[in-house]
This record gives sequence, structure tokens and C-alpha cells, in this order.
Amino acid sequence: MSKIELLQVGPYPSWDQERLDAHFTMHRYFEAADKAAFLAEHGANIRGIATRGELGANRAMIEALPKLEVISVYGVGFDAVDLAAARERGIRVTNTPDVLTKDVADLGIAMMLAQARGVIGGETWVRSGDWAKKGLYPLKSRVHGKRAGVLGLGRIGYEVAKRLAGFDMDIAYSDTGEKDFAGDWTFLADPVELAARSDFLFVTLAASAETRHIVGRKVIEALGPEGMLVNISRASNIDEAALLDALESKALGSAALDVFEGEPNLNPRFLTLDNVLLQPHMASGTVETRKAMGQLVFDNLSAHFAGKPLPTPVL
Ligand code: 8YV
Repeated sequence: MSKIELLQVGPYPSWDQERLDAHFTMHRYFEAADKAAFLAEHGANIRGIATRGELGANRAMIEALPKLEVISVYGVGFDAVDLAAARERGIRVTNTPDVLTKDVADLGIAMMLAQARGVIGGETWVRSGDWAKKGLYPLKSRVHGKRAGVLGLGRIGYEVAKRLAGFDMDIAYSDTGEKDFAGDWTFLADPVELAARSDFLFVTLAASAETRHIVGRKVIEALGPEGMLVNISRASNIDEAALLDALESKALGSAALDVFEGEPNLNPRFLTLDNVLLQPHMASGTVETRKAMGQLVFDNLSAHFAGKPLPTPVL
């Protein structure tokens, strides 16, 4: 029997690639120089898309695949999938929730600590010989006991807040409504108010058209010259132009970012700043979690083509 044909939007680790190759014919879109010609050549028989959170599947891609039935996302975020286009054709969409939650939260905390305590600069201080030449490393500001804001108290936001509680932080959050599992954390509906009472503001919202630029100029200004913005969600949740302006003018103290508009080709203005920590969209990037994500991508595809219930459906 011939194998079911899938479009693969981006690369996966070898263990995932081998399993997918063994069960499906994988058409490697990311290796094609002429994407439109590639879709025109292979599109007619493709029944599924295997993609990644940040790559998704846009309307043009979906429309170029007349036999498309399912889109399996390696990632919890499915904002880059055109859900309207999928819905119109009854195309199923799956993601990889839960398995990555704690790793993403861990990296958010690591980014806060690294940026606040100057860990990267400290490493440079040692390696460059500055320690011996100049002496003590410049003093940094304390993390524990400060005020933290969590914008989006979903699965990841909750794990971030739990970890922040371990640093004796005064925690507030913003979401569409108050959460019964939030204990004594303060609820503030308005992200500007949240930013105003925060030393550290974590952006942990699932991105959508509604949340686009929810962290705008006002939120950034409210966070202020002593505040730090940590983004482990999606770049689209932040007005990046406003963020860059504020970092350059020091209207915002600092930022720690794992996601960028147009990533991996981020705005070069970021590279000249010394008050921002830049990470390569790696919050879910542990071997353990990525293996679980790859398994879920495969399990969702297999279940779909076997006519079984999808383990983690979005649509
Ligand atoms: C990426 C993510 O999918 O979970 C998400 O939404 O963005 C990530 O886990 C990961 O970087 C693999 O591309």
C-alpha cells in the first residue's frame, strides 16, 4: 500500500523525522527553493500537514492542498495556522499542549534571573579578563520579594506564577476573568494596571488576533524604567516597535525575549541594545519535551488517518 503523503513545513529532530518517514511520504516544503512550484508539483495528493508552532500553515498553503484533511502542529501555539481557512473545509487541527508547559515556565524564570542578575555579562566579565583587570562585577538588582505580573494565567502562566511564588514575589495577573485556582494572587483586568504594579511582567498569553499588541506603548510605559518585560509567548502579543523605542530611550528598564517578529531574522535594533536578553525561541527546547511533542504530532496524524479520536485536537 502506498504511504499517505504529508507536507512538512519545517525540520524536526532526527527521531521524529525517522518515525514520520517510516510511516508517511514526507514532502519537505522547507527544503524547496520555489515554494509555489513545490506545492503545484506535490499538492494534489497531500492529505496532511506536519508543521511547527511558529511556522503554522497559512491560507495560501491550505488552499494549494485540495485533499488536505489534517494539520498537526508541533507546539502549543496554533496562531500561525489559518483556522478560518481550515474550518471552511472541515480540516482538523491538532497541537501539543501540556507536555511543554513546565519547560516554557522554567525558561521564563531563567530569563528573568539571567537578565536581572546579569548572568551573561558576568560570564563575559570572567572570560574577557575584566574580573582580574577591573575587579568586582557591577551590582545588579534583586529578584526575590519583588512584584511580578503574569499576563495570561493559562497553563504556562500558572506554572510561571507558581515558580515566582518560590521567590517570595508579590504576584498579580491579568486574564479575561478571575481564576479560582489563583489563590491569593491579585487579579487586575487591565494590563496597564498590571504593568504599573509590576517589577517583572511575564507575557504568557496564547496569541490570537484579539491579543495582538496587547502589550502596547501604554503597558510598556507603565512597566517603566525599573521594569522588566519577559516574553515567552509570541512576538505578536507585543508592539515590537514600541518596545524597541522604550528600550532605546530607557523608558523601559529591560526585556528578556524568546520570540521576535520575523524570527529568526529579528529586527537589528535589538542587537545594539545592552538592556535586552535575546533567546532563540527555545522555551520548549529540552530533549524530553521535544520528544513528547514529536510523539504527539505523530500520534495525532496516525489517529486521524486510522479514523480514531485525535489525542489533542484544536479543531
Ligand atoms: C515551537 C512553540 O513550536 O509551543 C509553541 O507554540 O512555539 C514552540 O514549542 C518550537 O519552537 C518548535 O518549533
